[in-house]
Amino acid sequence: MIIAIDGPAAAGKGTLARRLAGHFNLAFLDTGRLYRAVGYAILQAGNDPNDPEIAVAAARALDPENVVAGDLYTEQVAETASVVAAIADVRKELLTFQRNFAYHPPGGKNGAVLDGRDIASVVCPDATHKFFVTASAKVRARRRFKELQENGVESTYAAVLADIEQRDQRDRTRKVSPLKSVDARVIDTSGKTPDAVFEEALAHIEGEQSK
Ligand code: DC
Repeated sequence: MIIAIDGPAAAGKGTLARRLAGHFNLAFLDTGRLYRAVGYAILQAGNDPNDPEIAVAAARALDPENVVAGDLYTEQVAETASVVAAIADVRKELLTFQRNFAYHPPGGKNGAVLDGRDIASVVCPDATHKFFVTASAKVRARRRFKELQENGVESTYAAVLADIEQRDQRDRTRKVSPLKSVDARVIDTSGKTPDAVFEEALAHIEGEQSK
């Protein structure tokens, strides 16, 4: 079983992916982490993420099995990840690892759940189940702002909303593998609890399985 979950930033993809992975005993890959790790490495080196040669070299140097270096969940890293993710050769460098994870999941699992932007469209077009998880930009910004506050990171709601809107715009309009809903069950998580989202996804999977 392969479950593909795509959607914009902070829509609740990761929460749903973890729940489904636990329920069906699947391996879980947060593919955004790979792009974040490339962005992080470039920032650490003080390099320019807009330079394709530098970005591709950073992607090539990444060990996807060991993406643990440093704090990948800052807005600056997210922004840089979105910049490098628009470079075709960076995506190419990261594709083999993602496909391999999906089709040969580690740890003797029954399959895999991958979350990202192009899982249903590029990484696993033949995934067993496909979801597009979304929510309004305001709802997503509110969630992300709350998360930052809880982690003691200084920010404002307006700044978080602006970041999210800018990143969405870049991820949706880039030429290579833009964020889009392909052949997927759309779940709008605005105003829904993680439990409700999980139940909705589960009902959809069970419905498809009984076809
Ligand atoms: O899901 P995330 O916020 O951690 O992703 C960070 C950035 O990485 C996102 O703005 C776009 C990029 N990304 C991508 O282009 N394709 C993916 N499959 C996953 C992430």
